[in-house]
Amino acid sequence: MTGWITVIGSVNQDVVCEVARLPGPGETVLAIGARTNPGGKGANQAVAAAKAGGSVQFVGRIGGDSAAAPLLSSMAEAGVKTVGLREVPGERTGRAYVTVAAGENQIVVDPGANFAWESDAELAVLAEAELLGSADVVVAQLEIPLTVVTWAAGLARRFVLNAAPAAALGDALLRRCDPLVVNEYELATVSGAPTETREQAGRAARSLCLRGAVSVVVTLGAAGSILARRTAESIEVTYQPAPQVNSVDSTGAGDAYVGALSTALADGAELGAAVAYATAAASLSVQSPGTHTSYPTREQVVAALAALPPADSSLATTRGEAPCVPVD
Ligand code: RIB
Repeated sequence: MTGWITVIGSVNQDVVCEVARLPGPGETVLAIGARTNPGGKGANQAVAAAKAGGSVQFVGRIGGDSAAAPLLSSMAEAGVKTVGLREVPGERTGRAYVTVAAGENQIVVDPGANFAWESDAELAVLAEAELLGSADVVVAQLEIPLTVVTWAAGLARRFVLNAAPAAALGDALLRRCDPLVVNEYELATVSGAPTETREQAGRAARSLCLRGAVSVVVTLGAAGSILARRTAESIEVTYQPAPQVNSVDSTGAGDAYVGALSTALADGAELGAAVAYATAAASLSVQSPGTHTSYPTREQVVAALAALPPADSSLATTRGEAPCVPVD
């Protein structure tokens, strides 16, 4: 029996343009094709978790405009319970402008209703607190106000934070993360350390464990992921390679990863096994276009796990290393 996952986060309508190559600063390029997709890191992660076998409820804010209905339908079709997704009258639904070229993407988000949350005093008495406090795993990202993320973290039994888009995090929030999930760019922002090489990323992830994070997962795209976690005496760092696949659209692949990771954790998997499950799910999602429609089922993830390269624990275990200073 799988445990409950509550995802708190954003819901966006994605306006996607396919181009031959991403434009540079000041450059105009013509699109090869354009479409709208359901999106938002929160909604994507909720759908990815549900499709990967999780029992998922969602907490968020959506507009009262025509963009809302298809987004609600896509979440419901995947089995996500949207009882905590409130319409904010007079607000527009969040929208993301996504440019996709040869498996890469650039995204600009207009948050709209995702930032139309109650005041701090009102948060304390919100009915959604029950959905957060009763879940086995709570998952958040940073496309909603940081005060709301911090409120959710305080109520969670196990808190998974995907620090995307990148932002500096206080130590109190970091201490709640098990794991913090970041890509190399987000890791550099949160840790203040260089993250260009795998060794640097491993050291930066360790420094966040020394600052208080229970565990940190660094997603490296096609290169796999790094897991750093505190044990009683040390910080262990392992590397999980990803299978080599043909990537056609990486939009929302990080969300496939976080969603599947949360499902595995809610199922009771230990974090290393959850990272393997998430890696298999993300490698499947990049092989087809879009977000929700590209996320694999539990059966598909389990089948892909068989072809996953084994984890490597040769990245060093460290005792007592000084943490890096976070950037503002
Ligand atoms: O992670 C991908 C998502 O980021 C897109 O769906 C877009 O809505 C933005 O939130």
